[in-house]
Amino acid sequence: FDKDSYSRDLIKWFKEEQRILPWRENQDPYRVWVSEIMLQQTKVDTVIPYFHHFLEKFPDLKTLAEANEQEVLKAWEGLGYYSRARNLQNAVREVVEEYNGVVPANPVDLGGLKGVGPYTKGAILSIAYDTPEPAVDGNVMRVLSRVLRIEEDISKQSTRKLFEELVREIISHEDPSSFNQGLMELGALICTPKTPSCMLCPVQSHCRAFDEGLETELPVKSSK
Ligand code: ADE
Repeated sequence: FDKDSYSRDLIKWFKEEQRILPWRENQDPYRVWVSEIMLQQTKVDTVIPYFHHFLEKFPDLKTLAEANEQEVLKAWEGLGYYSRARNLQNAVREVVEEYNGVVPANPVDLGGLKGVGPYTKGAILSIAYDTPEPAVDGNVMRVLSRVLRIEEDISKQSTRKLFEELVREIISHEDPSSFNQGLMELGALICTPKTPSCMLCPVQSHCRAFDEGLETELPVKSSK
């Protein structure tokens, strides 16, 4: 597996074909953070109007920190999983009070914030701060399980850790943001769960599952 060639092809495709999405307008860590929290249990098309509205009401960390919790929950209404909104506001208040209003750029402080798990932490560090950290979610595990033919059960916690270690080895240090977002975008547009569009895939030549006709067998998921 030629990681440099894979990375080059993935990033080139992402730069040419990425969807225009509101959270991709700039690298503001607050915007990246809000978008990644919203996107965790909710589809892109649903998130878009909520993201616009939320950013109009709470344009920056300070505004959200000072807002009334009920107001924040009202802006979240319909998205569900309301603890996401409460944790986000609590974490934003901590950033304002403890970190001078700057979203931490280091994994330890960032990961210590309420609701910021390994995925969100890696997404913020790579997308907002151009740091080569893994951001592994279900989509990323699907893509990489196919490319590298990994047959571990993706429902297991230990498997996500395995993928994080693999991403640490192959992630582009030139452009970690496009690398991670490229994996996400490939999982959303091409390397889809049931009928992946392998004929359109920019990394087909690197994909072990395609080579061996196993793309619909992977990933392995017990969904326990
Ligand atoms: N899903 C999770 N994070 C995403 C992002 N930044 N862009 C598009 N889809 C996503």
